Amino acid sequence: MSKKMFALRAGAVMVAAMVSTMAAQAGEVEVLHYWTSGGEAKAAKALQATLQAKGHSWKDFAVAGGGGDSATTVLKSRVVSGNAPAAAQIKGPSIQEWAQEGVLADISDVAAANNWDKLLPPVVANVMKYKGKYVAVPVNVHRVNWLWANPEAFKKAGAKVPTNWDEFFAAADKLKAAGIIPVAHGGQNWQDFTTFESVALGVGGADFYKKALVQLDQGSLKSDTMKKVLTTFKRIKGYTDKNAPGRDWNLATAMVIRGEAGMQLMGDWAKGEFIAAGKKPGTDFVCAAAPGTAKSFTFNIDSFALFKIKNEANVKAQKDLAAAILAPEFQEVFNLNKGSIPVRLGADMSKFDDCAKLSSKDFVDTAKSGSLVPSVAHGMAVSSAAEGAIKDAVSNFWNSDKQTVEDAMAKIASAAKTK
Ligand code: GAL
Repeated sequence: MSKKMFALRAGAVMVAAMVSTMAAQAGEVEVLHYWTSGGEAKAAKALQATLQAKGHSWKDFAVAGGGGDSATTVLKSRVVSGNAPAAAQIKGPSIQEWAQEGVLADISDVAAANNWDKLLPPVVANVMKYKGKYVAVPVNVHRVNWLWANPEAFKKAGAKVPTNWDEFFAAADKLKAAGIIPVAHGGQNWQDFTTFESVALGVGGADFYKKALVQLDQGSLKSDTMKKVLTTFKRIKGYTDKNAPGRDWNLATAMVIRGEAGMQLMGDWAKGEFIAAGKKPGTDFVCAAAPGTAKSFTFNIDSFALFKIKNEANVKAQKDLAAAILAPEFQEVFNLNKGSIPVRLGADMSKFDDCAKLSSKDFVDTAKSGSLVPSVAHGMAVSSAAEGAIKDAVSNFWNSDKQTVEDAMAKIASAAKTK
């Protein structure tokens, strides 16, 4: 054999060996998520690219539906039939509920190797652990108590972006008079509750919010403050359009983007939509704390729970994904697209816009002042059973022409007892 032939052969053998070891290590991760809107899909793509860069493959299991109700239903049936995906978008107290079923994997080795206890705020790390072991990995911090406004529409109406509820209704009247839909809303129960909890925070303050909506204290749920909250909440409905029922949240955001509507009460995943549409914060759209909530922060932390799976290569891929999610590069690119802020402590915010910088500052400040509160609408605060029941009660009140505030209060208080 000539020298050249020999070198070629040897090269080919080496390549074959490399390919076969890579194949032995490369795994597949099936990821259940509900990130299907413009900004969300870009963020999900960043996650997929991160996994693929590690040599693994991504099996997309996207179930459309904001807030994730449909995704949860599909997940339940997959797990019951013994065919869980490797990772699923599950958050808050639900992580504990899934862990109690014995279906989640312990990824404490990944957490220890990457120092998660040091780089995560304890309030976040605790939610990711079951009996002291990590079973989930957080991706971001979303702020829920935002108001998004179209400055052009406000200018046309001669209105000012509101900082309290009186100003909110004054602005809404002006927008209406100018022929603009004042409030873009999607009538689905999680969207109704997203509005409701911002009203509760703005009207009642953080202490009331915690007592009524987190501790589900019966006295607070039946108080005069709650009456005021419900009255204010219902008043907003008069400023939404007749096509709101059933509308997806991102279509409501699109109405604000186009200037067809003036404002939307929604978490900062809405910012992902503005950004994906090429809009600039401060110029094309404005972010402001929901009326009366500038000194508080309703948090919503997206996370992936990891399920017990068998195939060794897939377990390796699952763990690589978990480690990559908290790496600084991924935290940056993902959150720039998603509208949220990095969940890692001390992350570099230089590439982020003013809305994100404000969110990051307020997250730290409100944690100190005691006005950092978990979102009920986004599964951060109470058991999934209680959450579902109070969401339904609040939406029934929103949708009914007959129900009185007193009636609604009694129904919500009784729903809060659901175990
Ligand atoms: C939230 C979720 C966000 C988001 C939104 C709309 O519950 O945490 O990531 O995209 O629903 O689907």
